[in-house]
Order: sequence, then C-alpha cells, then structure tokens
Amino acid sequence: SLTPDQYKVADLSLAAFGRKEIELAEHEMPGLMAVRREFADAQPLAGARITGSLHMTVQTAVLIETLVALGARVRWASCNIFSTQDHAAAAIAVGAGTPEDPQGIPVFAWKGETLEEYWDCTDRALDWGDEELNMILDDGGDATLLVHKGAEYGKTGVVPDPSTADSEEFAIVLSLLGRELATDPQKYSRMAAEIKGVTEETTTGVHRLYEMFRNGELLFPAINVNDSVTKSKFDNKYGCRHSLIDGINRGTDVLIGGKTAVVCGYGDVGKGSAESLRGQGARVIVTEVDPICALQAAMDGYQVTTLEDVVSTADIFITTTGCKDVITAEHMSQMKHQAIVGNIGHFDNEIDMAGLAKIDGIVKTEVKPQVHEWRLPSGRSIIVLSEGRLLNLGNATGHPSFVMSNSFTNQVLAQIELFAKTSQYPVGVYTLPKELDEKVARLHLDALGVKLTKLTDDQASYLGIPVAGPYKAEHYRY
Ligand code: NAI
Repeated sequence: SLTPDQYKVADLSLAAFGRKEIELAEHEMPGLMAVRREFADAQPLAGARITGSLHMTVQTAVLIETLVALGARVRWASCNIFSTQDHAAAAIAVGAGTPEDPQGIPVFAWKGETLEEYWDCTDRALDWGDEELNMILDDGGDATLLVHKGAEYGKTGVVPDPSTADSEEFAIVLSLLGRELATDPQKYSRMAAEIKGVTEETTTGVHRLYEMFRNGELLFPAINVNDSVTKSKFDNKYGCRHSLIDGINRGTDVLIGGKTAVVCGYGDVGKGSAESLRGQGARVIVTEVDPICALQAAMDGYQVTTLEDVVSTADIFITTTGCKDVITAEHMSQMKHQAIVGNIGHFDNEIDMAGLAKIDGIVKTEVKPQVHEWRLPSGRSIIVLSEGRLLNLGNATGHPSFVMSNSFTNQVLAQIELFAKTSQYPVGVYTLPKELDEKVARLHLDALGVKLTKLTDDQASYLGIPVAGPYKAEHYRY
C-alpha cells in the first residue's frame, strides 16, 4: 500500500465519491474502455513508468487507470493549481484500498495549490526514487520543461539563479532546480537519458515542443496529441463549448442572455467559446490577429473588431488565444462596473493580472475561491475568474467525459507508439497517423447511434482511397 510520502491529496475520505464518479465516467468514455479491452492481453505498456502532468480530474482518473490496465506504472500531478478535483485525486490515491490503507497510484494534486506547491508536486511526480521514469504524459509542457531545464543546468554545472528569472513563477522553478541540483547535479540529466518520449496534450505545450526542436534543445521524441483531429477539433472546440459557460455560471450565476460577450481569439477554443456564449443568447464579438480566423468569425455571424472598440461597453471578456497580454490592466480599468473577465487559454499571462494588482489604490476581495472582485480607483469593479487561469477547470470541472475520451484515447495510443516503437521515432515532434485518428473517431460512433455509410469498391477506386480509410489526405483540414 502507499505510504504517506507517496501521495499528497486534499482529503482521502472523498475517495468513495470520486470512485462513483469515475464509474459513471467510464460509461461515457467508450474509446478508453475499448482500448482497455483491445490491449488487455498484449499489455503494451508493461515496463512503462509514466509521469503524468495533466489536470487531475475524474476523466483523467479514467485515463490513468487505462494506462495501468495496459501494464504501465504511473505517478501523477496536475498541470494547473486550480484544476484538480479533490475526489478524483483521492480515488486515485486510495485505489483498491481504503482511506486508512491506500493502495492506489502516487498522485500529488489538490485544488488550490500555491505555485511553490505546484512545482514541488510536478517534481515529486518526476521523482521515481531508485528508478527513473521512462515516459512523460504532459499537458502544457511543465513536466517536460522541468526535465529540460534541470538537464541543461546539469550539463553546464551552473547553479540556477532565481534572480535571473523573467517571471515570479520561473523564479520558483529556478530555486526548486537549485535546491535539487545542489544535492544531485545529474538528477534531471539521468531522467532525460531514460525518457523514451513525451505525449503532449495541448496547443500551448505543442508550441513549446516545436520551438525546442527548432532550437536543437529537445532531448527526446514527442507526439503532438493536440493536433490529432479527434483532439483539437473536438476537445478544444466542443469541450470549451460545454465547459466555458459552466465555469461562468458556477463562478457568477449571471444571466448570459442579452449580454455582450467578447471572445479574444477564434481558433479551436475560440470557436467553441463563442458558440457557447451565443447558445446562451449573448451577443458575441470576436477579436483576432489572423485574417483567416477573423473572416471565419465574420462568416459565422460574429462582429469582429478590436478590444479597444468594445472594452468599455461589453459585459463578459474571455481570452482564448494562448498569447500574452491580450487583456491589459489599462483595458480592465476601462471596463463597465462588474464586467466579468476570464481566460480559457492554457496559461495565466493572457490577462495581465500582475499589472492589475499594481494599479494604485486597487482593492481585491475574494467573493469565494476562484472568484474575485477587483475594485478600481474609479469606484467601478470587475470580477476576475480563477485569477486569470483557465476558468473552465478552475470554476467548473473542465470538459465532460465523452469529449475527453477522444483526447485521451489519442494519448494512450501515442504512449503505446512511443513506448513500444521507440526506434521508429528519432528525436522530433510527430502526430499520430491518420488511421489511428480515424480509429479514435470510430470508437465513439456507436455510443451516439451513428451509422456510417460504407464506400463501394467502385466508389473507393473512383476516389482513389481504400474502402477502410484513411479517407482524407494529410493536408485536409476538416
Ligand atoms: P489556436 O491557435 O487554434 O487559436 C488561438 C487563436 O488566437 C488563433 O487563431 C490566433 O490567431 C489568435 N490570437 C493570437 N493572439 C491573439 C491576440 N493577441 N488577439 C486576438 N487573437 C489572437 O489555439 P487553440 O487550440 O484554440 O488553443 C488556445 C489556447 O487554449 C491554448 O493555450 C491551448 O493550450 C488552450 N486550451 C485550453 C483548453 C481548456 O480546456 N481550457 C482546451 C484546449 C486548449
């Protein structure tokens, strides 16, 4: 059974509730359950030691237990300070045991971590004691970043200096590395040498991987799970369509219908977010930098303009860009009284929270956890959700199971690819083959009563594609 130093969660007594919700989620995650059945005998992940850094939710619990069912051993941390569902984390820690005798999976995650605790949890998930991990399953790239930064300093022998950091959070990372490397300078270099690869969940983490690869810094191969069609065109879009308003409702319970809502960014997340708000009857305005996405938004019937044009008249502001400084302190000081401001992109730098806090005379009041009223010197106040971190996971419970089953089936297939076929993947960033993408979609059709049309041989040869797929060329964009 797990000893107390092998996990850290908020409250083990929530495990029974967590287990109930995991059982309900399994039924809604047909892709993951099919993969469990398909690979039950083959055990393709036997010998895999996977460190996961991904929102510790009920859906992630089903992912973790799928990896274990295929033979892997797992250690887990969340990839955001607010996104853990404490009952899911407790159920994972308790496993087949009881709260008094947990026998589950090492997990270091609770809702409302400090940034120091967050990075410590990530580090503990990476630390397998006498063994080394050999796989990373990442969301946003923080576990990958810690290994890379640690290995870099391990190589040069230069002790990380927090005062050189360009942000408060990076200073925390550097001081953690400084502490760890002081006692074991090669800790992260050893890890990097053993890691067969990383599978990355989200747009922002994927950006980081391609950048590291371009700069010649990437130390192991990566599969870009985000750009499986059955991930980004579903989770990012339909997931956010569900969970954006869930977060706004649970955070504020304000009537969205009739309000003016601004969605910054019209990529996959922006498309789902705009539809989510329009579905509630909001008048939605989009901002974009990319003319193609701006044109898409216009064709979809949204007004497209700049934030400056509407900042003092709109009621709800949502960032979905993965960019930084999209909503500045200056913007926020011009907003209407009780305007709602939130972010659904991966990191918290889309909204300039540091700048907001620095406004002379500003007063921050906690309405409830993850909901704050910031009273400006003008006497007006704005409501900021999840301190500018992704609000669908901070104020609500993230995406629902069915859409995450698509994302996570891609994750499991990607883990199997990299772990079982390591030699076929030299250091680089890859996407899964289209056959597997189509397979993930196929696994989710029955549950929705979808009946596919079958190509005749004659039709297939007319189109020049196999009857069984893949049906589209690589360049097709869906
Ligand atoms: P994307 O690249 O498809 O879309 C981002 C869009 O923002 C692009 O069209 C880009 O042109 C636009 N943009 C960039 N800078 C801008 C600016 N300054 N003003 C206006 N528009 C701007 O990326 P995707 O997949 O939509 O992801 C967006 C973010 O959401 C990423 O950080 C991603 O990791 C995260 N994400 C969050 C999820 C959640 O559950 N909260 C789920 C999936 C992704």
